[in-house]
Amino acid sequence: MAKRPPSPVPQTRLGRLARIGLAAGELAFGAAAQGLTRLAKGQAPDFAGAMLSGSNAKRLASRLSELRGAAMKLGQILSLHGEEMLPPEFVQALAELRSQATSMPSQQLHRVLGREYGKGWEKRFKRFDEEPIAAASIGQVHRAVTRDGRDLALKIQYPGVARSIASDVDNVAVLLRLFNLLPVSIDIAATVEEAKRQFAQEADYEAEGRFLESYATFVADDPGVVVPHLHWDFTTPRIMAMDYMEGVPLEKVAHELPRVRDAVGSVLERLLFRELFEFRVMQTDPNFANYLFQRATGRVVLLDFGATRRFDDDFVATFARITHAVVKGDRELVGREAARIGYVRPDDGPEHVSAAVELIFLVCEPLQHPGPYDFPASDLLPRVRARGYELAVRRGLVRAPPPATMFLHRKLIGSFLLLARIGARVDARALVLECLKKAPRRPRPAS
Ligand SMILES: Nc1ncnc2c1ncn2[C@@H]1O[C@H](COP(=O)(O)OP(=O)(O)O)[C@@H](O)[C@H]1O
Ligand SMILES: [Mg+2]
Repeated sequence: MAKRPPSPVPQTRLGRLARIGLAAGELAFGAAAQGLTRLAKGQAPDFAGAMLSGSNAKRLASRLSELRGAAMKLGQILSLHGEEMLPPEFVQALAELRSQATSMPSQQLHRVLGREYGKGWEKRFKRFDEEPIAAASIGQVHRAVTRDGRDLALKIQYPGVARSIASDVDNVAVLLRLFNLLPVSIDIAATVEEAKRQFAQEADYEAEGRFLESYATFVADDPGVVVPHLHWDFTTPRIMAMDYMEGVPLEKVAHELPRVRDAVGSVLERLLFRELFEFRVMQTDPNFANYLFQRATGRVVLLDFGATRRFDDDFVATFARITHAVVKGDRELVGREAARIGYVRPDDGPEHVSAAVELIFLVCEPLQHPGPYDFPASDLLPRVRARGYELAVRRGLVRAPPPATMFLHRKLIGSFLLLARIGARVDARALVLECLKKAPRRPRPAS
């Protein structure tokens, strides 16, 4: 992780708005400067293209990274889902937001600690590492040893994050709309609301602590994964205290023997299907930094339950029926169930339905494949992207998915990327069939 010098998190509404405005100005300026360069070379200026240049994206990434909070989270989401609508250099430059953040200076850190733990907080620790282990979008993580000898990782939230969520989301939405960075078909108002709701949940570390504890129960029977223990006496709404976990970054699995890579891949894929069909609770942020790998035991450590969501039984039952139908190759059933989720609307014609069915079958390719699916060798994502672009943008046959599915899609894409990156071959079909047995079955009267 490239290091940036610490900088204070801007906390006032106006201060944050000004910086988002500054980012907008810089984008426009960067585009204008490029336009002039092209003019000087005797080419026609291409402002739309220039706006979306890699250097412009770098500027935007750096601003959002200083701001942190919801503004940065939105940049991360754009970098994951922007592929369909933005040039690759732009998305790539934004991707740095997923690994890098600026930490807060120690004065600001101590203020947060004093406010959360009360005066004299230092006395509760035998050791407190001032240098953070990691700085992420809404908080940074410090290692500390309590007076009674517990070795902890403390996730400490930047000040002002929680109360700036709504205005950050609104301001960034304006910025994205201004520069046409949003897909045309998206329901902006609903998405903005969903994002605010989600980020507010992520900013509540006590809620995250409760999710972490439910996960520990869920996966207690899985020897392949481990979840840190939560320490409530050091946890507040803005500080989450858990066991410090040993492990190497998950990316390192890519250097292991194929047997190890495949085993880790299976652990992650089984967990994904169990989350959806069995627990009906899902951690929807499958970012590399949210996992560690313990070489000695081959176990995967799960961190970061901020983006955990519950799915209602009806939603899960419908997804289970779609998945069953995909595995069986039943296109008609997939079409009917797709309408229940909202992938097609009741008044959509057969062309819309068949476009949705085609895309669903395409994205579920690993589930139709007999035996281990070779994730690293697969070009499925670019194929989905190309076909999705053709059907959605060029032919207008695909509806923007309902906001409730946004986080499930993020998880599915992210999980695919994880398996590809660690180089795993996994029998996804067998795993999904096994996990589907635990899905709620509520056959409804045919409508
Ligand atoms: N319990 C832990 N033990 C060791 N390192 C941790 C622990 N929790 C978090 N980290 C480190 O801090 C980083 C950020 O933590 P995470 O929970 O993902 O925060 P955020 O919600 O801000 O993304 C992780 O990528 C990991 O490197
Ligand atoms: Mg994280």
